[in-house]
Amino acid sequence: MAAINEVTDLALEGDIAVLTLNSPPVNALSAPVRDGIFKGMGEASANPSVRAIVLICQGQTFIAGADISEFGKPPKGASLFDAQAAIENARVPVIAAIHGTALGGGLEVALTCHYRVAVPSARCGLPEVKLGLLPGAGGTQRLPRIVGAERALEMVTSGEHVGAKACAAMGLVDELVEEGKLREGALAFARKVIDEKRPLKRVRDLNDKVEAARGKPEIFAAFRKANARKFRGFEAPEANIKCIEAAVNLPFEEGLKEERRLFMGLMTGNQSAAQRYVFFAERAVWKVPDVPADTKTIPVQKVGVIGAGTMGGGIAMNFLNAGIPVTIVEQKQEALDRGLAVIRKNYETTAKRGRLTMEDVEKRMAMLTGSLSLEDLADRDLVVEAVFEDMGIKKDVFGKLDRIVKQGAILATNTSYLNVDEIASATKRPESVIGWHFFSPANVMRLLELVRGDKTSNEVIATSLQMARKIGKIAALVGVCPGFVGNRMLAQRQREAQKLILEGAMPWDIDRVLYDFGFPMGPFAMSDLAGLDIGWFREKSTSSTIREILCEMDRRGQKTGAGFYDYDAERNARPSPVVEKIIRDFAAKKGINQRTISDQEIIERCIYPMINEGAKILEEGKAIRASDIDIVWINGYGWPVYRGGPMFFGDTIGLDKVLAKMKEFEGQMGAEFTPSKLLEKMVAEGKRFQDLK
Ligand code: 3HC
Ligand code: NAI
Repeated sequence: MAAINEVTDLALEGDIAVLTLNSPPVNALSAPVRDGIFKGMGEASANPSVRAIVLICQGQTFIAGADISEFGKPPKGASLFDAQAAIENARVPVIAAIHGTALGGGLEVALTCHYRVAVPSARCGLPEVKLGLLPGAGGTQRLPRIVGAERALEMVTSGEHVGAKACAAMGLVDELVEEGKLREGALAFARKVIDEKRPLKRVRDLNDKVEAARGKPEIFAAFRKANARKFRGFEAPEANIKCIEAAVNLPFEEGLKEERRLFMGLMTGNQSAAQRYVFFAERAVWKVPDVPADTKTIPVQKVGVIGAGTMGGGIAMNFLNAGIPVTIVEQKQEALDRGLAVIRKNYETTAKRGRLTMEDVEKRMAMLTGSLSLEDLADRDLVVEAVFEDMGIKKDVFGKLDRIVKQGAILATNTSYLNVDEIASATKRPESVIGWHFFSPANVMRLLELVRGDKTSNEVIATSLQMARKIGKIAALVGVCPGFVGNRMLAQRQREAQKLILEGAMPWDIDRVLYDFGFPMGPFAMSDLAGLDIGWFREKSTSSTIREILCEMDRRGQKTGAGFYDYDAERNARPSPVVEKIIRDFAAKKGINQRTISDQEIIERCIYPMINEGAKILEEGKAIRASDIDIVWINGYGWPVYRGGPMFFGDTIGLDKVLAKMKEFEGQMGAEFTPSKLLEKMVAEGKRFQDLK
C-alpha cells in the first residue's frame, strides 16, 4: 500500500489497483481528497500492469459530496473536474465501490467511473437542491443519460436518497454486492470486467435515454405545473429543471456549460448562502457548550403523557412511532376515550394514504395504554405533561408526579408560556424538570423547543436532546422567558400586524406580503384557521379589539364561515368588505388617521422587531446561538428556509439597516422599538449574527 497523500492510499491486488479515500467524517471532496483522486488515478493508470481500478472509501460512507465548508473560499489543489477527468479518461476501467451514501459531488464522481457497484444498504442521491444548488459537476448531464429525464427531474429537484436496490433497477448501480463485503465484491466485479473485456463505459457517451425526451417540452411543463406549490419561492428547483432540459436538448459539452452557468448563479446568490447556513445550523443545535458530548444519559424505555387533548395525543404518537410504549393519563373517561380515538383516527388516515399498513396501526395502538390515574406513571422514565395552560393546575400535577414517579425520571412540561422554574418548584427534584415545547400538530411539526430551567441537570438535557433525535425532531435548547424563543418573537410580529391594520393596511395586504415573503400563510389567515375565539370569553368581551368585535359577531374564523376573511363553502378566503368597514370605523373612533402603507413597511414593521427581539434573547443568554433561533423559526413557524431564519435575514439586509429602522420607528412610536444593546454593539463593531461565537 502506498500513500498518495494524507487521505488517499493506492494498493495493488494483482492487476487491480485499489484507490482508497479516508477523510472522516464523510469523505467530502475537500482539496486533499480531490488531489488524492487526481494523483492516485494518474499513478494507477501509469502502471502498465494495472488492468482495472477500484475507487473505494473507508469509514461510514462513500463520498458524501463536495466539502460544503469550502464553498465561497478560494479554490485549492486539483479541481473536482480534474479529478473526474482523471477517472473518466483513465486507460483502464474504473469501478466505484459504494457504501453509506454517494451524494452530490460523490455521486457525480461515481458517475464518471465506468462502472458502479454497491452494497444493498447504500444510498445515492443529488441533494444539492436542499442547499439551494444544483449538481455542478456534471450530475445533471450524466444522471438523465442513465435514468431518463423524468426520473432525473424527480431526483434533482427533491434531493431524495435512492436505495441501492432501486438504483440497480434503474441502471445507476451495475451490480449489488454482499453487505459487509464491498471490497471483495468490487474486486470480483473488476475481475469480471477484465476477463470479459468489458468496454470503458462512459456515461457522457450514452444518448438513448435523453433522446427519448428530446422534442417533448410537455414533460417539463407538466413537471413544473405539478410541483409549483412545492417549489414556490425557491430558485434552485427551476435551475435544476433547466439543466435537465439542457441535457435533453444540447450536446454533452454544451449541457455542461449550461450547468456551470446556472450553478454559479445559484452559488453566488442569497438563497444558497441561506440554505448552506441552515445545513450547519441544523447540526449545531445538538451541541451545548456546557453539556459535554459524553454526558451520561438516562435510558428511556417507557413514557407517560398527561392530557389527551390537542397536544397530548400528538406527543404520544411521536413516541409510539419510535417504538416506545406510552401510558396516557386523562381526568375523565370521556376525555380519555376521545383522545385515544383521535390517535387511532390519525393513524388510520395515514394508513388510508398508504403511508402505514393497518398492521402498523395496530402495533402502535397496542403500545398505547390509557389511564385515569397518575399512579400508573410510577415506573415511567419520562413523563410529558400537556394539561391546560394554567400555573395552578401544572403545579398541582407536578407536585403529584414528584410523589409518584420514580427518582431519576425526566419530568417534562409542554407549556407554551409558563415559567418552567416555577413549575419545577412544585417538586423536590427541580433538576429533573425541563420544558419540552412541541408545536401543533405535535406528531407532524419538526421543532421541539427544550426549555432549560435554572436547575435542570446536564443528564436531563443530554437525554432530552438524544430523545428528540430519536423521535425525529430537531431540538433547540432555550432558556426560561415568557414565550421562550419562538412565541416571544412571534408576539412582536403579532403586535405590529394588529397595529398596522388600524393604521391603514388591510389584513389581506399583510397576509399577501408575508406569504410572498415565503411564509405558508399570513397571521390573519392563520388566526382564521386556528379560530379567533382561542382564549376569548363572551362574558368578558368588551369590543375593545378588532378580534373581540369579530368574535362577538360570531365571525370566529373558518369554522364559522367568516373571520378576518369571508369564506365560501369550499373554504376559499375572500377579503371581507364587512371587516374592512369594522376596521376603518374602529380606527376612526380611536382617532387613528389611516394612511397608505407600503409592502416594504409591512416587512420592516413585522420582521425587524423580531430580529431585535432575537438579539435581546441572545443578549440575555436565552438561546445559545443566533442559528438556534433561526432553526426555531424555520421548523416551528414556517419561516422560508431560503431566507435562512430571522437572524440570518438580518445579516442579509445588513444589521446597520435594521438598527437604523428600529431607531426611526422608536422615534415615531416609542419603546416597543428600542434597539437591543447587542444589536447596537454589533453594528458598532461591524459584526453579523453569524460572527458571534
Ligand atoms: N461537506 C462538509 N461537511 C459535511 C458534509 C459535506 N458535504 N456532509 C456532512 N458533513 C459534516 C457535518 O457537518 C457533520 O459535521 P459535525 O460532526 O462537525 O457536525 C459531519 O459531517 C457528520 O454529518 P451528519 O451529522 O449529517 O452525519 P449523518 O451520518 O447523520 O449523515 C450524511 C451523513 C447523509 C452524509 C449527511 O451529512 C449529508 O446529507 N451530508 C450532505 C450531503 C450533501 O448535501 N452533499 C452535496 C454537497 S454539494 C455538492 O456536492 C456540490 C457538487 O454538485 C459540486
Ligand atoms: P387541550 O385543552 O386540547 O388538552 C388538555 C387536556 O388535558 C384536556 O383533555 C384535559 O382534560 C386534560 N387535563 C387537564 N387537567 C388534567 C389533569 N390534571 N390530569 C390529566 N389530564 C388533564 O390543550 P392543548 O392545546 O393540548 O394544550 C396542552 C398544553 O400544551 C398547554 O400547556 C398548552 O399551552 C400547550 N401547547 C399547546 C399548543 C397548541 O397549539 N394547542 C402548542 C404548544 C403547546
